[in-house]
Amino acid sequence: MTIGIGIIGCGFISDAYLRGAARSGHLSVLGVADIVPEAAAAKADAHGVAARPIDDLLADPAVEIVVNLTVPLAHAEVSTRILDAGKHVYTEKPLAATFSAASALVAHAAQAGLRVGCAPDTFFGAPHQAIRRAVDEGVIGRVVGGSVGFYNPGMESWHPAPDFLFKPGAGPVLDAGPYLATYLVNLLGPVRSVVAAGSRGRDRRTIATGPRRGEHIEVEVDTTVNAVLEFASGADVALTVSWDVPGTTRPPIEVYGETGTLSGPTPNWFGGEVRTTGGGGEWRDIDVSRFAFGEITGEARPGVIVADYRSIGIVDMALALRSGRPHRASGDLALHVLEVLEGILTAAAEGRRIEMATTCERPAPLPPGAGEEVLEG
Ligand SMILES: NC(=O)c1ccc[n+]([C@@H]2O[C@H](COP(=O)([O-])OP(=O)(O)OC[C@H]3O[C@@H](n4cnc5c(N)ncnc54)[C@H](O)[C@@H]3O)[C@@H](O)[C@H]2O)c1
Repeated sequence: MTIGIGIIGCGFISDAYLRGAARSGHLSVLGVADIVPEAAAAKADAHGVAARPIDDLLADPAVEIVVNLTVPLAHAEVSTRILDAGKHVYTEKPLAATFSAASALVAHAAQAGLRVGCAPDTFFGAPHQAIRRAVDEGVIGRVVGGSVGFYNPGMESWHPAPDFLFKPGAGPVLDAGPYLATYLVNLLGPVRSVVAAGSRGRDRRTIATGPRRGEHIEVEVDTTVNAVLEFASGADVALTVSWDVPGTTRPPIEVYGETGTLSGPTPNWFGGEVRTTGGGGEWRDIDVSRFAFGEITGEARPGVIVADYRSIGIVDMALALRSGRPHRASGDLALHVLEVLEGILTAAAEGRRIEMATTCERPAPLPPGAGEEVLEG
C-alpha cells in the first residue's frame, strides 16, 4: 500500500521527512511546495522529487495527506488550507501557535471528516516504547513522579534561521515542550493541571552559523521554564525546558514508581538506552531492540541516540486511514499537549495553577517488532 503525500514548507526539517518518506514502502512524495519557490526547488533537486506551486499540489487528487512543515506561526493557516482542499493534514509541532487556533483546526477537520496528525512522532522510538511497555507491565509499580527535561545553551548555536524560535509560538516550551509532553501523555495519560515559573537568560541572541552569522535576534519569550505536570493518574512530573544551560548531568527522562525507577534518553530523538531499578537491586538495562525501527531508515539502531525516523507518524496515519483504526500521533493528542504547554506559559506568567479543559486517550502502544509492518494492524 502506497499513499500519495505532498509537503508544504521546505526548510531545515524537510530533509528528515524527505529521507524518511523515501525509505518507506508506504509513502510516495508527489510534490514539495513553499511560499519561497526557490526553497522548494532546492529540496526537489536534492531529493529527486517535484517542486510544485502550493495550489497545484493541493488540487492533485492523488495527494491524500499534506505534510505541513512551515514555521509555527503559519501552521494554522496552512493546515486550514490543506483541510479546505479536502486533504488530511499531518503537521509539525506545535499543532498551531495557540490552543484556540488548534481547537478550531481539530473541530474543522472533524466536521470535514478528515484526519489531523501532528509531530512529534519520536515516542514511536524503541526506548520510549520500551519504557511504555515497562510501565504498563508494572515493572516499577504505580508511577508516583518523574523528572524530564530538555536543556541546551541556545538554538542560535546551530540553526541558520533561528528567529522564529525566540518569538511567540515557539520558545523552549512550545518548541521542545511538545517532545516531553507528548512523551509523558503517551506514558502516563492526560494531564489534569500545571504550575510553572519562567525566566529569560538573555534579551538578545546572536546567530552563530550560516549566512546570517553575527546577526542579532531580540528574545520575546522565556528561555528557561520549570513546571510541574499533575496527571489525572495522580503522578506529578517535574519538567524543565531551557536554552540557558551551558552543561548538565541531569538525565533527560526519569520515571519514579512505587517499586523502582526507569531512566531513558531524550524524546527529542528516537534512539537510546533504557535502565531500571524495577525488580530491586542494581540498575539493569532493558532490551529495547525488539521495538526497533531501524528497518525503516536502515541507518540507525535503537542505541544510537540521534536515530531519526521522522515520518513514521505519517506512515502510521496512512496505514490507519486504510484500515480505519485511530492513528497514534493524533490531533486530539497534540491538542491536549498544546493546552498543557500553553497552560505552562500562563502558569509561569500569572503565577497560578492552570486546570486542563481537554483530555485524550493514550495512543496504542506499538507491538514489538521491527519495521513498518508492526504498524499495519
Ligand atoms: N529545525 C529542526 O530541527 C526541527 C525539528 C523538529 C521540528 N521542527 C519544526 O518544523 C517546523 C519547521 O522548522 P524548520 O526548522 O524547518 O523551519 P525553517 O524556517 O527552516 O523552514 C520553514 C519553511 O516554511 C516556509 N514557509 C513559511 N511560511 C509558509 C507559508 N505560509 N506557506 C508555505 N511555506 C511557508 C519557509 O519559507 C521555509 O522554507 C517548525 O514547526 C519546527 O518547530 C524543526
